[in-house]
Amino acid sequence: MKAGNGMIQWVEIDRKAFFNNLDEFKKRLGRTEVMAVVKANAYGHGLLEIARLSREAGLNWLGVNSLEEGLTLRRAGFNQKILILGYVSLDQAEAAVEADLRCVAYNLENLKALARAARRLQKRAIIHLKVETGTNRQGIPVKQLGSIVREIKKLPEIEVEGVSSHFANIEDTTDDYYPKRQLANFIEAVHFLEENGQVIPVKHLACSAAAILFPETFFDLARIGLGLYGLWPSKETLISCQQRGQEPLKLKPVLSWRTKVAQIKTVPAGSYIGYGCTYRTTRRSQLAVIPVGYYDGYDRSLSNAAYVLIKGHRAQVRGRVCMDFIMADITDIPGVELEDRVTLLGTDGREKITAEQLASLAGTINYEIVTRINQLIPRVIV
Ligand SMILES: Cc1ncc(COP(=O)(O)O)c(C=O)c1O
Repeated sequence: MKAGNGMIQWVEIDRKAFFNNLDEFKKRLGRTEVMAVVKANAYGHGLLEIARLSREAGLNWLGVNSLEEGLTLRRAGFNQKILILGYVSLDQAEAAVEADLRCVAYNLENLKALARAARRLQKRAIIHLKVETGTNRQGIPVKQLGSIVREIKKLPEIEVEGVSSHFANIEDTTDDYYPKRQLANFIEAVHFLEENGQVIPVKHLACSAAAILFPETFFDLARIGLGLYGLWPSKETLISCQQRGQEPLKLKPVLSWRTKVAQIKTVPAGSYIGYGCTYRTTRRSQLAVIPVGYYDGYDRSLSNAAYVLIKGHRAQVRGRVCMDFIMADITDIPGVELEDRVTLLGTDGREKITAEQLASLAGTINYEIVTRINQLIPRVIV
């Protein structure tokens, strides 16, 4: 199949699959709202493309990691509620408040910086208190909540819209001990805040795995990343779901990554392929040179390990993954032509390559496989 679209590689975003996944989560979550987590270039799916689909679906909330991501959305005209889930440096507070980006507050310093910025701008800084419940990443230890609440009472520029926390060990296990402990810590923190007069309109704790497994974690809002993109957070999440007798969500992968055959060559038996001469042909072989490499996010550990799909057949990667190229063996695939479509991730005919397969070969997780697809590669909604 020829791919004459003016691009040498592209990422296809399947809008139907996205809406299907969103519906699956909405059914599970009931009255709890969905925040589409679009950090890391929407997990490699394209920040603006996924923000557009989220807007079309009527989602009110987007979650990003950084000020830059938030500003990119604002500049592109997205006026949904955007929460920066990650780090905003003290000198970025003003830009965040100016653009009406919500920030998480996780210590006195960032709270005060946001208040100062709001004062200068004569606005209010909308914040979500991030509570430490056991992940030991960003978050206010429960013991320090008292001093934070006292400080907030002195800062009229601060509007507390939410309180949140994040699970540490929900994807990696079928044991629910640690998430339950974090949930209990979260509830304790919420009670403490409310008993101390803090009104909290939006409480949120759940990520994809929690939304799939633990209705107790739903509260007002669920921050859904990977699941919206049609991927399971882990095998353990699926097993836990089945062990509980729950019907697993019918998630459909949203992303396919494709390119074209850049050159075809026939080499004699005994030829070395690529850097380091790590592969030597055992027979006369036909190779497809494919214009994708580790710069694009095709991990170098896939060298001599992964396969790509051409004309619905598997073509084994031979030799090392280069910065901008890979070579694949097409000796047994009849009729391959220059500029035929190549699938690096996704389906071609009856064959498919999943993010989980590539992750397993690369010694990582599906999250990393998709988020590391270079953001310069065009994303095309299909
Ligand atoms: C704070 C926070 N909330 C929500 C999410 C979404 O998690 P998931 O992609 O597993 O749904 C993430 C992702 O890492 C996160 O860091």
